[in-house]
Amino acid sequence: MRIAFITDLHIDTDTEHTQGVDVRQNFLNVLAKVVDLKPHCLVLGGDLCNRTGDATIYDWIRAETRKLPWPTYVVPGNHDDATMLATAFGQNKNLHDGELYYALSLDGFPALFLDSSNGKFSEKQWAWLRDYLKLLRDNNLVIFMHHPPLPADMRSMDRLGPFTQTEDFLNLVRDLPCHVTVACGHYHIDKVVQRGNLLTLLTPSTYVQLRPDTPDFVVSGRQVGFRELNVTVHTVTSTVHYLDHQD
Ligand SMILES: [Fe+2]
Repeated sequence: MRIAFITDLHIDTDTEHTQGVDVRQNFLNVLAKVVDLKPHCLVLGGDLCNRTGDATIYDWIRAETRKLPWPTYVVPGNHDDATMLATAFGQNKNLHDGELYYALSLDGFPALFLDSSNGKFSEKQWAWLRDYLKLLRDNNLVIFMHHPPLPADMRSMDRLGPFTQTEDFLNLVRDLPCHVTVACGHYHIDKVVQRGNLLTLLTPSTYVQLRPDTPDFVVSGRQVGFRELNVTVHTVTSTVHYLDHQD
């Protein structure tokens, strides 16, 4: 089962490019490339908007993804409004006190879609997550969330915008009999972080990429990409695809 994961679109109003980058065209270019993969579904990993949630931006993205022959699922990022996002993508039933989180079986494989848009989960979301993991037993699990759940050796983001409940997340996952793969964005970089039975796949943005070695945000490149995940009964494999840079 193949999943295409696109994240950190950072789309602004239709009159404004984000810091001079045509992020709408970037997104369309990436979608065109994704079509070749023929995935089971597409997941958008948050920060669809550049500043704050905007219904017209979500509607534009939804209209583009509706043209695709497979379903699109979403998780909110710190620049999103979970309620507006859920409304645009027909996910209101999965809103819980303003957080958008849900579980799906993707072609028979369990997948969780979590809401880290506040940099943490509410107690209610933690309780739901704990209950769900108890049901899973030894199934391998794929999780989609905007933030990496643990530090990723990236000086700026680990300091300025991390997920703030790393220890809680690790404690929850550590004793599971299954392997957990987290596909995430937020850091604007391609990185793989392994800790115990947790594999975290950080995915490049369709806006700009960031340097890992600077204390503040510094752009490392404008080549955009997305992640392909292939899930089988025994393994999850993954590849980042970059588009040719167009200057
Ligand atoms: Fe973000």
